[in-house]
Amino acid sequence: MTHDIGKDKALRLGVNIDHVATIRNARGGDHPDPVRAALIAAKAGADGITAHLREDRRHITDDDIDRLMAQIELPLNLEMAATEEMLEIALAHRPHAACIVPEKREERTTEGGLDAAGKHNLLAYYVDRLGSANIRVSLFIEPSEEQVEAAIRLGAPVVEFHTGRYAHLAEEDRAAELKRIADCAALAVKNGIEPHAGHGLTFDNVAPVAAIPQLAELNIGHFMVGEAIFTGLDASVRKMRELMDAARD
Ligand code: PXP
Repeated sequence: MTHDIGKDKALRLGVNIDHVATIRNARGGDHPDPVRAALIAAKAGADGITAHLREDRRHITDDDIDRLMAQIELPLNLEMAATEEMLEIALAHRPHAACIVPEKREERTTEGGLDAAGKHNLLAYYVDRLGSANIRVSLFIEPSEEQVEAAIRLGAPVVEFHTGRYAHLAEEDRAAELKRIADCAALAVKNGIEPHAGHGLTFDNVAPVAAIPQLAELNIGHFMVGEAIFTGLDASVRKMRELMDAARD
C-alpha cells in the first residue's frame, strides 16, 4: 500500500529518534545525527518526531533539541520529566507537544507510566504551565482506569498509554492487556482526551495496537532504529507505517 504523506491519516506515527543519539554518543562525535534521522523519517511517512531529553542527557542533548526545532518541519513531541529545568527548556523552545514521563536516573528506559493519581498537585502545575504556552500536553500513563480518571481531573488534552507490559507478554497472553488499552482509549475519548500509545512496539506486535480505533498516534523508536541497521531507516519507517495502515484498513 502506498502512503499519502502529509494527508489526513487516522493513526499518526511519531518516530522517536533517541537511539540514533545513543549510537552517536557511544563515540562522542556527531555521527549518526538524529536530525538527519528525523529528516529521513519525515520523508518515509512519519507524522511527527519524538525526542526525550533526559535529565542525564544520555542520548538527546540540548543542542539536538535546538537543531530539531530549527530544521524539521514535522511537529516535535518533547518527552520530558516533570522538573523545572525541563519546563524551562520546553517553554524556551515551544515544541508542538510535550509528553510528561516519569524518569529515574538508574533505569535503562522509561519503565512505567506516571502516577498521575498520586502526583496530582505536581503534575497540575506542569500541565497548566505547558498548556498556557500552547504546548499540547500529554501524560504517559499505564492503561488503567484510575490513571485515565486522574488525567481527566488534571485537564490533560492527551494521554499516551505505556505499551511496555503488552510488548513483553507472549502473544497468547496479550488479549487482556489489549482490552485494557482499548477500554482506556475509549474512556479517554469519551472524556475529550486524545489517546496515544507507545513503548516496545515492533513489526510483530504493532498491528493489534494500531487496530484500536480510538488511538490517534503511536510513538515508536528503539525497534525501528535497530531495524535500520539492517534495512536502512527509510525502509524501517515505511514498513512500520504500512503495518499501521494495514491494521486500520
Ligand atoms: N513513548 C514514550 C513516552 C517513551 O518514553 C518511549 C521510549 O522513550 C516511547 C514512546 C518509544 O518506545 P520505544 O523506543 O520502545 O519504541
